[in-house]
Formats: sequence, C-alpha cells, structure tokens
Amino acid sequence: MLHREPMRSVGNPRPVTGPQDIKTGAVIARLLRDYVGTQWGLLALAILCMLFTSAMSGMLPKLVDWEVKQIFVRHKQDWLLPLSLAAVGIVALRAVSLYFGRAMLDSLSEKTVAAAQSDMFGRLINRDLAALNAVHSGQFISSFLYDATLMRDALTVGLASIFLEAVQLVVYLTYVLVSDWQLGLLALIVIPCVAWAMERLGGSIRRAATRGMQETGDLSTVLSEAMDGRRIIKAYGLESHSAARVRDRLQARLATLLKAVRLRAAAAPVTDIFAGAMIAVVLFVAGWQNLHGHLTFNAFAGFLTALILAQQPVRNLSQLWPTVSSGIAAAQRIFDAIDARPAIVDRPGAGTLKVAANAGAVRFNQVTFAYHADAGPTLRQVTLDIPAGRKVALVGPSGAGKSTIFNLLLRFYEADGGTIEIDGQDIAGVTLKSLRAAIAIVTQEAILFDESIADNIALGRPGASAADIRAAAQDAAAHDFIMELPQGYDTRVGEGGLKLSGGQRQRIAIARAMLRGAPILLLDEATSALDTTSERQVQEALTRLMKGRTTIVIAHRLSTVVDADRIYVLDQGAVVESGTHASLMADGGLYASLYSHALDEAAS
Ligand SMILES: Nc1ncnc2c1ncn2[C@@H]1O[C@H](COP(=O)(O)OP(=O)(O)OP(=O)(O)O)[C@@H](O)[C@H]1O
Ligand SMILES: [Mg+2]
Repeated sequence: MLHREPMRSVGNPRPVTGPQDIKTGAVIARLLRDYVGTQWGLLALAILCMLFTSAMSGMLPKLVDWEVKQIFVRHKQDWLLPLSLAAVGIVALRAVSLYFGRAMLDSLSEKTVAAAQSDMFGRLINRDLAALNAVHSGQFISSFLYDATLMRDALTVGLASIFLEAVQLVVYLTYVLVSDWQLGLLALIVIPCVAWAMERLGGSIRRAATRGMQETGDLSTVLSEAMDGRRIIKAYGLESHSAARVRDRLQARLATLLKAVRLRAAAAPVTDIFAGAMIAVVLFVAGWQNLHGHLTFNAFAGFLTALILAQQPVRNLSQLWPTVSSGIAAAQRIFDAIDARPAIVDRPGAGTLKVAANAGAVRFNQVTFAYHADAGPTLRQVTLDIPAGRKVALVGPSGAGKSTIFNLLLRFYEADGGTIEIDGQDIAGVTLKSLRAAIAIVTQEAILFDESIADNIALGRPGASAADIRAAAQDAAAHDFIMELPQGYDTRVGEGGLKLSGGQRQRIAIARAMLRGAPILLLDEATSALDTTSERQVQEALTRLMKGRTTIVIAHRLSTVVDADRIYVLDQGAVVESGTHASLMADGGLYASLYSHALDEAAS
C-alpha cells in the first residue's frame, strides 16, 4: 500500500554528474530550447551586430588597398578626403555595432543564467526534507554560484565567437577548396585531428571543472561552518585551527585550478602542432607538383594565403573550446539539479484534509519506519491515540524515536508500514499542503529569518493583518519586549534572529504558531534551552497556544509533562508504557525511573 522504493533514492547527497555522463549535444540543445530559445530575437540581433562588426573590420584593410591603388599609384587627389572620411565612418559604425552586439549577448547570457538559477532553487526547495538534509549547503551554494559563472562564460564566448569564427572558417575553407581542391582536401584532414585533440582535452578540462566545483563546495562549507561557529571558535581560541582548515581547502582547490589552467594553455599549442604538420605536408606535395609541372606559382600563393588565414579561426575555436566545455559540464549539473523531483508527493486524487473546529484527533496504527532500508527500524509497531484538543506527551531516552514521530506526522518521510490518521483520514491520501496547514510546530531552536519581527510572525499565515500579528504577539507574551526594541515590529532580527535572546526568539516562534491557527500543535523540547525565568514566560505563552488544540509535546524535562492527559513512553522505537503521570509512577517502570533520575539531577 505504501510506496517504499522511490523514497530511498531521495537521499542522494550530491547529484554531481561525472564528466563521462555529460551529453554535450543534449545539454546544448536544452540550453538553446529552454533558455536562449525564449530570446531568439535578441540573439539574432546580437549575431547580426557581431557580423556587421567583423565586416567593418574587414573594410579597413580595403581602405589601405584603395589608398595604395588610387593615390600612391594613380595620384588621384579627389580620393584623399573621401578615404579619410570613410575611415572615420567605418570605425564609428564598427564601434556602435560592437557595443550593441556585446551588450545584447552579455545580457542574454546573464538572463539565461538568472533563469536557470531561479529554476534550480525553485526545484530544490520543493524537494523532500531528506534530500535537502543530504545536500550540503556549501555544496549547493557553490554549485549555484560557481556553475552559474562557468555557464555564463561559456554562453558569452560560445554564442557569438564560435558563430563568427565558424563563419570565417567556412569562407576561407571554401576559398581553399576552390583554388586547389586536391591540396585543399589534404589540408582539410587537419580539422578532424584538431577536433579530436580538443575533445580529448575538453574531457580532462570538464573533469577538472567538476573537481573544482566540488572543491569550491568544500571550501564554502568550511567557510560557512566557521562563520556559523564563530562564537565557539572565539571562546575556544580556535582561530588558527579554523584558518588552517580554510588554507587546506584553498590548497586543494588551487591544485585543481592550476591543472585546469595548464590544460587550457595547451589548447593553442596543440592546434599549432597539427597545423604545422599540415603545412609541412602541403609544402612537400605542392613542391612535388610544381617540380613535375602541375602547379603554378600564382595558384600556389593564393592557396597558401587562404590556408594561413583559415588557421586563425581553427586556433581561436580550439582556444574557446575549454571554456565552452566547462560551461557544458556546469550546465549539466544545473540541469540535474533542476530535474530532481521530490519522492513524497500528493497521491493521484488526493483530497484535502478536513479538520473541524476543536477536532484534530491523531492516530498512529502499528506504524513501522526505518530511515535507511538496510538499517534497523527506527519505529516498531507504534500505536498512539491522541484525542482531539488534548495534550499528549512523548517521553523516552535520547534516540528513542520521538522526533521521528513528528517527521512521519508531517510526512517528511513516509511510514513503511501501518497508517497515520487525523480525524479518521489517512494522511497518506490527503494533499501535503492541507496536511501541513493543519499543523503548527515549535522546536527547540526557534528558526527566524533576517526580516522584520512582523514578517517573521506573519510567516505563520502569509497575508495576516498587522492587528492579527499584534494579537498573536500579545498572546505569545512577546508584545512588550517587541515594543521596547528600537523599531518595534519593524526591527530586523539579524541573521538567524541573532539580535534577540533565546527566549525572545522562542516567543516570536510561538506567536507565529498562534497566527497559523492550526488545530494540531507539535512542540519539540520547546523550553529545554531556556533558563527558568524565560522558561516560565515561554511556558505561559505555550499554555495559551495549546488551548483548544491537539498538542503533542516532546520534553526532556519531565516536570513540563506532568499535567499531560496521556504520556507515551518510547524506548528503541517502541511504545513501552502509556498512561497518566500518576499511573505511570504507580507502575514503577521506565517512566518512573526516568522521573526519579530527573529529580535526583535537579536536587544535586
Ligand atoms: N535523518 C535521519 N537519518 C537517519 N537516521 C536518523 C535521522 N534522524 C534520526 N535518525 C535516527 O533515528 C533514531 C531516532 O531518532 P529521533 O530523532 O527520533 O530520536 P529522539 O527520540 O527524538 O531523540 P532525542 O531525544 O535525542 O531528540 C536515532 O537512532 C537517530 O540516529
Ligand atoms: Mg528529538
């Protein structure tokens, strides 16, 4: 009944594509279709501008040619002024078309990259929690930024330059073939050779780019860990340890980057070697033909000029290829990230979860679950009965599976066996949106974003009015301290809410949960990180929040769950006892020993 297999694949940590998996043609086609393709007009205009620019560049030598013919040789005075004016005109036209061509091409690549990044994040944030947990934030950010830069560079050079160079190459080669088709064909052999060498080189460069991306990811991980752990680093005097970690990462990354530099630098010389060999062969064959009377000097001179001209685009193309090649590898990684789909989705025909006022009974029927198919089960046949509007506590030793129960109720993971019901509706058969809308959660670490306090509270119910936000803050005992802040509700809380105390952050999180108005409330050790005074304030706020809601609370401090309507005691993933505080104490089981242990600790 439950889909098991697809879920296991969501934990794939880094969807990094090996260079061997890169399908160059498919990546280019997709890039053109999905991103560049929406801007064909702009691309066409840009290419026209670039073609015009190179035509104008070609005009300048022509002017010198005329100057020689008409003035130096024929001494025609009336050509003097027009020639100079033409030079000014050509340079000006060239400047204008160059400006527009470059500007259009660069904006095209920037727009493409921004669109791909937006798609990438849009997909990522919709993935399963398990998949998100497995993506290291440093890896993600570096792929997001570094791959995007590689892709942009490839587009910027690729779109215009490759097109222009290819056009020139075709023109010169046609000329080469027309002037002497036999020698021309001989000369053409060099092109597949260069292409083959560039593809080999490109493979190594893509591998280096992939490694470089991973190393950039490791580097950003170390950097962000250092910034997140700055208080510990300072307090423990770990500055030099931290600097050494960053240095190590930089060294590793530098080695890869230098390898890529050497590979790139090899592109032009490798091409030159092939071209040199080709010229040697052509000289030999042409000389042979001349000695045997087939080839005239004039024909040979024309042929050789075209051949030498044709070399330049080949050389330029081979120098561009490394950039394009790394860009393709980057685009492939970006597309892989865009293609990743969440495994936990609404079933076909999933209905909306309906919870009437003052309802919200939660039932776990024989629920079994394992985080990893090969590890032992985390939950074994767990059955819980949580009546609407009551407060039920989950207690048990660390690792017993308490937080896992929340994960399953929110469908962050799907149960492997058994069912979970809310008011008689199997949560596997309702939409994720309606399920999560029925639940509010307050955790030990209040999660705030660096926005205003009002915005942080409003996250509970987007679009809430200022009056609703204030009412929620009042119920959460947060209004008074908010009003004492410099900008009241408009005060920004700093990264992660760092400008507020732990208890203040917690009360903002409670106000957010109040505003959500969800019938089911999950509290995961909401007060255990606080001192006694703030714990009391937060506890009062929580009591107001719990009123009329079905509450499931996980608490390490057993004193906070003494008044629960029912207590489930978990151990190693199974429910081992249940009852009220009084009945469990009377039974003298695990709960009683946990409780007396806690009392001893409080006394000592
Ligand atoms: N995301 C995860 N992936 C793999 N294993 C996990 C994951 N989360 C928890 N576990 C494992 O599942 C078991 C139960 O974890 P859970 O977080 O539910 O315990 P808990 O009862 O909430 O513990 P605590 O009181 O310490 O918070 C533990 O053995 C833990 O190592
Ligand atoms: Mg826990």
